Amino acid sequence: MSDIRPIPDFSLKALNTFGLDVRCAQYYPITSESQLELLAQSGVFGKKKFLLLGGGSNLLFVSEFFDGAVVHLNLKGREIEPIDAHFSILKAAAGENWHQIVLYGLHHNLGGLENLSLIPGNAGTAPVQNIGAYGTEICEVLEYVEGIDLLTGSRKRLSASECQFAYRDSVFKHALKDRFAITSVAMRLTRDDHNIRTHYGTISDELRNAGITQPTIHDISKVVIAIRKSKLPDPSVLANCGSFFKNPIVPPETAFNLKDKYPDMPLYHAGEQVKISAGWLIEKAGWKGVRIGRVGMHARQALVLVNYGGATGAELWNHALRIMDDVREKFGIDLQPEVNVIQ
Ligand code: EPU
Repeated sequence: MSDIRPIPDFSLKALNTFGLDVRCAQYYPITSESQLELLAQSGVFGKKKFLLLGGGSNLLFVSEFFDGAVVHLNLKGREIEPIDAHFSILKAAAGENWHQIVLYGLHHNLGGLENLSLIPGNAGTAPVQNIGAYGTEICEVLEYVEGIDLLTGSRKRLSASECQFAYRDSVFKHALKDRFAITSVAMRLTRDDHNIRTHYGTISDELRNAGITQPTIHDISKVVIAIRKSKLPDPSVLANCGSFFKNPIVPPETAFNLKDKYPDMPLYHAGEQVKISAGWLIEKAGWKGVRIGRVGMHARQALVLVNYGGATGAELWNHALRIMDDVREKFGIDLQPEVNVIQ
């Protein structure tokens, strides 16, 4: 048990991409599944306030002290197992960097993750928010996740359907929140006959500009990397957590009423509902590229809340609340944070 003793009063500055100098009461660095099993079996998760930490790229600490235990899932390991002539399973431990796993799959000519290139964060947190970009979500390739029931310490495997995926949502944000820690993710990837997804507008434009008519998975990855680099600030240069808000999903009448008023407003199908663009709403409300003190919404992507240096979590959260109030007042739409806000 000695190797799972926590470190007291630990700074999380290097472990959150908003770069906030937050301290926690106890810090547990977890590097093996058995450590996590022991920790769960010791009953710690039933007794203490705690937070499971992955890559820290989707997290806003509002206060400067987290009065609980931070359990940092830093498990490493990756493997590829062919299942037949056409598919392989790529399995990654929770603490592997997501983009490195995408590149690893591409290096082995496996298809399915290319549209998800360069998303910050770790493999283990990718299913929690069902990461998605450029016309793909992880739920489309996810075969299963493995993890540990935090109340019993037992290992479990959940199929994709048990993960209850939806837009930026899964069972890990609801019934299994604070109940289950993902230790590895397994994705079913194509070995040949790759499903090339170019339907997201900017991808087809970029391919056309580059003169590529028969794109490979490698071309798609390169184009996605180029688009992301052109719009989204690199968290290691400018502290941010990607999209701060979700794109609102609203009833068709709400969307079409707005569209009548604002014909340039983009709309997307979302089953029976309609997805509207939070970035457009924020830009239209006048906040794109506007900096107030040390915080602001990014100049090339209005959905990205930026810490220009030295801001506190409270400053960032107050700015988010200001934007939410203004968008509600101007458009009657409630924005919801996509980032996990820890009060
Ligand atoms: N738009 C604006 N102004 C902006 C930003 C967007 O008007 O400042 C409008 C434009 O019409 C643009 C459309 O919104 O064409 C879509 O913009 P973009 O392709 O940048 O995508 P998004 O809907 O703003 C979502 C994801 C991103 C993901 C991109 C690309 C969410 C919350 N965000 O953003 O994910 O990279 O699509 O697929 O769904 C993240 O989750 O952290 C993230 C960056």
